[in-house]
Amino acid sequence: MNTHAIITGTIAQLLVVAIYITTVSGYCSSPSPCASYPNQVPEYYWRDYVGIIPEDAVEGGTDESGAPTYVGQTYIREYGLLPAIVFRGCRTVNTTAQDKAVTSDTNIKILCGKYKTRFQWVPTRDEDLHLLTGRHFIVGGSEVGQALYIGRVNYDNRVIIGKFFMNPPLSKFGLAIPYQGKPVNVHSFEVLTYNVYYN
Ligand SMILES: *[C@@H]1O[C@H](CO)[C@@H](O)[C@H](O)[C@H]1NC(C)=O
Repeated sequence: MNTHAIITGTIAQLLVVAIYITTVSGYCSSPSPCASYPNQVPEYYWRDYVGIIPEDAVEGGTDESGAPTYVGQTYIREYGLLPAIVFRGCRTVNTTAQDKAVTSDTNIKILCGKYKTRFQWVPTRDEDLHLLTGRHFIVGGSEVGQALYIGRVNYDNRVIIGKFFMNPPLSKFGLAIPYQGKPVNVHSFEVLTYNVYYN
């Protein structure tokens, strides 16, 4: 091996190390004090929705015929990132935004996870949300700068997936669901949590 080859090889190795340091080990100016255990990182994920329900999709509600519906999410520029209802066989999702029921056929994701039993729907009232401590609420999006969470309610013989805000004053709206083209707010509902501490 000649000197040139050795130097080139060394430079290549240094480059690999530098790339490793900057991308894999990373550099964080404000290290997080929480999530110190890998098993506290929730294993659920949002997959692109292309009109087909993936096997690992999370069932949430039912439609008027009793068929399952799924937890979705859509980004709508004027409103934000919104939890939404995915209906099997349907390319569009339904949700609410401000004081409207809206449908969307773009920027859609569907909530999925390998461990279905770790998803739990916990009954509560909006005024009691603060009592549900020690639980991981699944964030479904963001509207008016506030995180949105996912809930559902038994309503008119179906189970309708909706969204709610965790903290006052917005939490007083309770769960907002789209129902026959109109938004409806209910105050007693179930919230979607994920058991991150499960072993
Ligand atoms: C979805 O939303 C559209 C438009 O608001 C409405 O016409 C339709 O009935 C909704 N679908 C369901 C199953 O609620």
